[in-house]
Amino acid sequence: MQDIQWYPGHMTKTKRMLLTQMGLIDVVIELLDARVPLASRNPDIDTLAKDKKRVLVLNKSDLANEAITTRWEAYFRQLGFFTLPVNAKDNDKKKGGTAKLTALLKEIMRPKSEKQKQRGRINAPIRAMIVGIPNVGKSTFINQLAGRAGTITADRPGVTRGRQWIKVGSDFDLMDTPGVLWPKFDDQQVGLRLACTGAISDNVLDKITLATHLLTMLTGIDPIIIEKRYRVRTESNVTGEAALHLLTEIGAARGFKIRGGEIDIERAAVILLDEFRGGKLGRISLEWPEDGND
Ligand code: G4P
Repeated sequence: MQDIQWYPGHMTKTKRMLLTQMGLIDVVIELLDARVPLASRNPDIDTLAKDKKRVLVLNKSDLANEAITTRWEAYFRQLGFFTLPVNAKDNDKKKGGTAKLTALLKEIMRPKSEKQKQRGRINAPIRAMIVGIPNVGKSTFINQLAGRAGTITADRPGVTRGRQWIKVGSDFDLMDTPGVLWPKFDDQQVGLRLACTGAISDNVLDKITLATHLLTMLTGIDPIIIEKRYRVRTESNVTGEAALHLLTEIGAARGFKIRGGEIDIERAAVILLDEFRGGKLGRISLEWPEDGND
């Protein structure tokens, strides 16, 4: 497959901004897509936040395979991260991420708050920075945390004007990422997985090509996923021409025709991608810990 330029530009400016702000931060909260936790990581965060407490929020967990998300949690915990699976769209105060994250941050920061208490400083809010690649659900999650009405932005000494601090109750202050962070540029598999989840604009790769790659991934996981939803028969691990043929069969099964009676493959591709992204094919993870499935 020829190299695809998934993202434009470089990140030097964002990295510099991040480093400047990092001194003000206690905890870095990294939002990942639970379906593709490796692909949706920014490769520079480990370096930029190396001395910080780290929380990995596995967002969109409502779309991911629950058992695999649990395995990812174990995997990341072993590497020293705190983890939290979340559905940023769930506005239930108890089930949603807010209560769980606040409790986790307090737990993480307990040693520091104890020290502060001994020095007579009580209730200093925990300062967290939230980072994540585009489309991972950062705005949705921040809205869930702060609540539209409760969002307060405050100026802090030493903070560039316009930098956004969001108050989350009295317990913690949240800083949105200064700038945009991209995932790894150099791995086509990473790009494909992110494109399948909708994190990358569909203009980068045509939908039919992308849909055939998704069929390869899904039939590799379990052909039943496709058979059940579209009432077609398929082998596992279909690739190339076979994947294109399967896409045509999906179009035929749905009755998608263009003038002259030909199957509308483009429409089949759009439907497959939409239905996968919307969770209609089930809760499916495209990456799992053991092999990183590269
Ligand atoms: P960003 O700030 O990181 O760029 O992402 P944003 O919050 O805009 O979210 C990107 C898309 O992901 C949105 O869908 C949002 O609704 C969806 N999303 C975010 N978190 C979750 C989650 O935990 N579960 C699920 N199922 N979806 C989530 P959209 O189609 O772009 O917008 P909309 O149709 O929701 O308006």
